[in-house]
Amino acid sequence: AQTLTLLGIESSCDDTAAAVVRHAPGHPPEILSNEVFGQTDLHADFGGVVPEIAARAHAEKLDVMVEAALATAGLTLADMDAIAVTAGPGLIGGVMSGVMCAKGLAAGSGKPLVGVNHLAGHALTPRLTDQLEFPYLILLVSGGHCQFLIAHSVTEFQRLGGTIDDAPGEAFDKVAKLIGLPQPGGPSIEQAAKNGDSQSHKLPRPLLDREGYDMSFSGLKTAALRTRDALVAEQGGLHPQDQANLSASFQAAVTDVLTEKTRRALTQYLTLEPKAPAIAVAGGVAANQAIRDSLSELAEQHGVRFTAPPLKLCTDNAAMIAWAGIEQYRLGLIDDMTLTARPRWPL
Ligand code: KG4
Ligand code: ZN
Repeated sequence: AQTLTLLGIESSCDDTAAAVVRHAPGHPPEILSNEVFGQTDLHADFGGVVPEIAARAHAEKLDVMVEAALATAGLTLADMDAIAVTAGPGLIGGVMSGVMCAKGLAAGSGKPLVGVNHLAGHALTPRLTDQLEFPYLILLVSGGHCQFLIAHSVTEFQRLGGTIDDAPGEAFDKVAKLIGLPQPGGPSIEQAAKNGDSQSHKLPRPLLDREGYDMSFSGLKTAALRTRDALVAEQGGLHPQDQANLSASFQAAVTDVLTEKTRRALTQYLTLEPKAPAIAVAGGVAANQAIRDSLSELAEQHGVRFTAPPLKLCTDNAAMIAWAGIEQYRLGLIDDMTLTARPRWPL
C-alpha cells in the first residue's frame, strides 16, 4: 500500500473546514492541517442555523480554508493523491458548495474525487485518532445527531438505535436559552453545573425503561421549561444558583440516559466477541466531561477500551473527511464528476 495524502473539505452545517491528512501504512495517520471557520457568530441573532446565511458563508470561505489548509501543511494541490469532500447528509446549500469546490479542484488538478458521508466521517474518527480496529461501538452525539452504531468496516455501520426527537446538543442549547445562559449551550451548562446540585430538581429520564436503544430528549427540555417557569412564578426570576442547579440536574439526566443506553448497546456489541473491544464517543456533546467520565467508567466496568477524540476532532472538521477519504480510497471507492450533494444520506 502507498502513502496517501488527501485534502478534505467539509461544509454540511455551520462550519467551513479544510484539512490535509497523510497516512503511511504501518504508521499512525498524521493531520498536517485542520482549518475550521465556525459560523456561530453569523447565526447568533437567529436562535439557530439559517440555511441561506450558512450557504453564502460557505461559498465565501471555502477557497480561503482550502488555501489555508494547503499552506499550513506546506503542500500544494499537486501533492494531493485525491480530494475528499462531504457529499451529505446536511444542509443542501452548504453541501453543494463543498461538492462544487471539490469538483473544481479535481477538474483543475486531474486528481480523483472521493465523496464522503459526514456521519461516516464522525464514525471513522476513532481510527484516525486511536487506530481502533473493527468492529467497535460508537455513540455519535452532537447538535444534530444521536445514534449508536457498530462500525464493522469502512462502509458498514450497523445502527442500533438513536434519538426519536431532539439530539442532546440541541437540548443543551435550548435549555441554556431557557435559563438565560449563552450559546452554545453545552459548554455554558457544563460550566454552570459545576456549582450546582444535580439532585435539586427531579427531571425525567425519558424512555429509560423502554427496551432497545432509542432515546428521547424533547420531554426533558419541556420538563426543564416547567421547572424554570415554576421558579420564575415563585420568586420572580432565576438566581445564578438556580441556573447552576437546573444545569446540573439537566446534565445528570442526559448523562444517565446516554450511559444506560450505552450499557445496553455494549452488551449487544460484546456478543460479536470483538478481538479488541472498544467503545468510542464522538460529536460536539462528547466534549462534555461528565458524560465522558460516565461512559469511561462504564467501559472500565466491562474491561473495554474507551476513546473520545480530542475536542477539535469531535466537532465538525475536515480532518475526519480527509481520513474517511483515505480509507475509501484504499478500497477503491472513488467518485467521478457525477458526484452530487445528498441532503439525506443515511449510513
Ligand atoms: O458536532 P457539533 O459541533 O455540530 C453538530 O451538531 O454537528 O456539535 C455541536 C453541539 C452543540 O449543540 C453544543 O451545545 C454541543 O455540541 N456541545 C456540548 C458541549 N460542547 C459542545 N454539549 C455538552 N457539553 C459540552 N461541553
Ligand atoms: Zn457533525
